[in-house]
Amino acid sequence: MAKSKTAYFCQSCGYESAKWLGKCPSCSQWNTFVEEVVEKSTSAIPTWKTESSSSRRVSKPSRVNEIQASTETRILTGDQELDRVLGGGLVEGSLVLIGGEPGIGKSTLMLQLALSLKGKKLLYISGEESEQQIKMRAERIVKNPSADCYILTETSTQNIFKQIEILEPEILIVDSIQTLHSSHIDSTPGSVSQVRECTAELLRFAKETGTPIFLIGHITKDGAIAGPKILEHMVDTVLQFEGDRHHVYRILRSIKNRFGAAAELGIYEMQGSGLREVSNPSEILLSQREEELSGIAIAAMLEGARPMLIETQALVSHAAYGTPQRSATGFDTKRMNMLLAVLEKRCGFRLSTQDVFLNIAGGIRVEDPAIDLAVLIAIISSHEDIPVSSKNCFAAEVGLSGEIRAVNRIEQRIAEADKLGFETIYISKYNLKGLALEKYQLEVKAVSKIEEVFNLIF
Ligand code: TYD
Ligand code: MG
Repeated sequence: MAKSKTAYFCQSCGYESAKWLGKCPSCSQWNTFVEEVVEKSTSAIPTWKTESSSSRRVSKPSRVNEIQASTETRILTGDQELDRVLGGGLVEGSLVLIGGEPGIGKSTLMLQLALSLKGKKLLYISGEESEQQIKMRAERIVKNPSADCYILTETSTQNIFKQIEILEPEILIVDSIQTLHSSHIDSTPGSVSQVRECTAELLRFAKETGTPIFLIGHITKDGAIAGPKILEHMVDTVLQFEGDRHHVYRILRSIKNRFGAAAELGIYEMQGSGLREVSNPSEILLSQREEELSGIAIAAMLEGARPMLIETQALVSHAAYGTPQRSATGFDTKRMNMLLAVLEKRCGFRLSTQDVFLNIAGGIRVEDPAIDLAVLIAIISSHEDIPVSSKNCFAAEVGLSGEIRAVNRIEQRIAEADKLGFETIYISKYNLKGLALEKYQLEVKAVSKIEEVFNLIF
């Protein structure tokens, strides 16, 4: 019997090495090498039409202006949040990877899509649950399921392709990539080499037949998609399904998208009967409160292309111990420290002896700099214990010298705030140019220095 060939793979980036290494030369992670069997069998194991593809066609270079532009055909999935996150529907032949923590609802999202997408033959391949389990879940989430949805519980890619050739589905869903194994490779399912090989086989199938594929992927405890980093490079779109398992809201975020804008966001609510699309996120992100409380300010933000108003909450209290605590949820702590330094240096607030806690409502992580001003206002409101009217909102970046800077797409933010019945929005003076303010009900206050805002509000 031939000795099986093994190699060592970095579990973090997929780097291959003949011997064990302590530190990965590619991604500099320590202690990530694991031995895997890589024996490629020479016998012909059927895969997705292996020989036909690479050898037959020879590509030639062509002038860019001679290439026929084909309009990509998009399939509307019927799930508006998902369609938007995908950049306006599912592109034919694309490979979409959906990552998320266990129990967050990836299988539910995909099964719901599979059952409600009518008129397209869809194959849902599950390596995690039995047919009965899927049926039980299906009965809970969709009332009259599509007749064109097929379920296959199988983990061998060779068997899967056999079934695909018979069934000829138009859309494929794989739950999950870590459970698949290919007989071309000897290592266990979920290992770097298996994940890479199975994805490559699916990718070849998707590109050759134009069939879009959704891949569900597990994530590791530090939040990265399990398997090699290469996986993210191979697929066209990477979506992350996130949220707190103990809360009802789930966020679908596009991290990479070859066919649309990244940083697009979809929001769902997990109910007893599956996931419900939340089409007006501001409703859930603004808490319904009667009285006005200090430490709260509302920011007019953009997530991807969508404007939303979001509550920022701050708590400033005297530090009982020597070093004050600084903690932010949903916001970059370094950026918060910078904003605190601005308040200290430019506005004379003594915050260096105070604990500061910051929280963005709804479990959303904000990267839009337009939230800066709302963060500052929330901090000062808590520090001075003066509430800010809940009819005010803010959309501006704050610079190091306390200047209020312009943010992009200000019209969209103002329009959203106007629609939701806010009375005043504070923006940067530099954003005023070209704005037609008459068409809004709400009052737009333009400021250029942080002190001006404080004078207007407190
Ligand atoms: P699931 O889709 O199995 O998660 P994943 O595939 O990401 O591991 O989701 C399981 C969770 O969702 C489970 O904790 C129960 C909850 N859930 C509901 O609250 N309502 C429902 O209708 C369904 C199907 C699941
Ligand atoms: Mg699952």
